[in-house]
Amino acid sequence: MKTRASLGLGVVALVLAGCIEQPQTGAGLYGEYCASCHGADARGGPEIDPPAPDLTTLARRHGGTYPAVFVMSTIDGYAREATHGPMPIFGALLDGRVETWVDADGTPTPTPVSLILLNEYLAGQQES
Ligand code: HEC
Repeated sequence: MKTRASLGLGVVALVLAGCIEQPQTGAGLYGEYCASCHGADARGGPEIDPPAPDLTTLARRHGGTYPAVFVMSTIDGYAREATHGPMPIFGALLDGRVETWVDADGTPTPTPVSLILLNEYLAGQQES
């Protein structure tokens, strides 16, 4: 009896744990949605053809400035509408909470939080 009751409680606890939303982090989102192609260290990889680009050299390849708008519009698909390569468009990532993101020119743009987090994460991964 005692064993069955605790087993039941364990199952309930597991189900509840599954329902509680983990706070999103840029690193977590990257690991979940991007690392399979771009590599755990964001340095790209030959796993797919064409290879996924090295995301630690984005700033260097964009004249020394990390291209935040380009990165976010690549993820949400705006920058790739015409020449959509093998990288998927992450619709599900874009459904969540929206916050105001302010670009380098001071223009505020309502932006999904997951995009903001991924963007901040990748900005922090740039080679020095
Ligand atoms: C299925 C493999 C795949 C996944 C998953 C993937 N990418 Fe990509 N990504 C690519 C490929 C291939 C390219 C280059 C061609 C293109 O745009 O499709 C690319 C291009 C990019 C670029 C432009 C890089 C450049 O140097 O021009 C960025 C930024 C980027 N990905 C970020 C991400 C982020 C962030 C995620 C996760 C949300 C992600 N990618 C998930 C394959 C992938």
